[in-house]
Amino acid sequence: MYKFTLTGFTVAALAIGASAVQADEIDLDAGEELNNQVCAACHGATGVSDVDEWPSHAAQHADYIKYHLELFRDEDRWDPDMLMTENAVPLSDADIRNVAAWLAKQDPPPGEDVDEELAERGAEIYYAGIPDDNVASCNACHGPQGEGIKGGQFARVQGQKETYLRESLKAYKDENRVSDRNRMMRDTAGRMSEEDIEAVAAYMASMTPVSEED
Ligand code: HEC
Ligand code: HEC
Repeated sequence: MYKFTLTGFTVAALAIGASAVQADEIDLDAGEELNNQVCAACHGATGVSDVDEWPSHAAQHADYIKYHLELFRDEDRWDPDMLMTENAVPLSDADIRNVAAWLAKQDPPPGEDVDEELAERGAEIYYAGIPDDNVASCNACHGPQGEGIKGGQFARVQGQKETYLRESLKAYKDENRVSDRNRMMRDTAGRMSEEDIEAVAAYMASMTPVSEED
């Protein structure tokens, strides 16, 4: 009897050990499957969106994707057309980890065709900010090639959909989107005019990719 108990205990302890390891593992195949079944319909088969209002996620940083999926799951992320939240509510922690890791590994979006004059003005804002209005340069946090900063909340913006970028900046400006820690984007967009926003959105959408992986 004593021996039986000891063995049972040992087996249980081993099982706990094994599941603790599995909990941190990333399953890219499962991430791809979830993407194909759920996300691809709106965000594209390889994370490059075909719809102007819906963002691309190819090569986006896994930590950024994870943070936003958790916010949507908690019904706590700006979702103007209420298309995203219901898709995030059923996701498990493992689903979020797997799909974020898979999306981060896809090739970045190619860059969109935009109004060139608008994008030229946008590039000035992106690299120099708007000193008169106390707007910081975007490249400080989003990288010289729009690549963002790995391992944090600093989003990749290169080749993102122009309309999505513009609407997101307006949503920060209007205090609708509040997912930015320390008000980093609300304070930035809040000091920009609609024309500034349109220009910088055009520039970011037009940026072509550099090879960089998460
Ligand atoms: C019915 C369409 C639809 C489906 C399906 C969908 N999404 Fe979304 N998703 C959206 C829309 C629309 C937005 C933009 C919300 C906004 O305007 O800020 C969005 C936003 C996001 C964002 C935030 C992007 C950013 O740059 O901040 C992430 C991350 C995301 N979706 C991931 C996913 C994943 C992963 C799946 C699959 C599990 C998925 N979505 C399924 C429509 C959808
Ligand atoms: C101090 C750092 C900082 C600066 C400067 C900054 N950003 Fe951001 N930006 C962030 C962070 C952090 C996020 C992610 C916030 C969130 O999770 O909602 C973000 C998010 C964004 C998003 C949303 C991306 C998405 O996929 O939804 C856009 C668009 C954006 N920034 C544009 C700009 C532009 C344009 C400028 C320059 C005028 C700028 N940012 C300057 C830190 C910064």
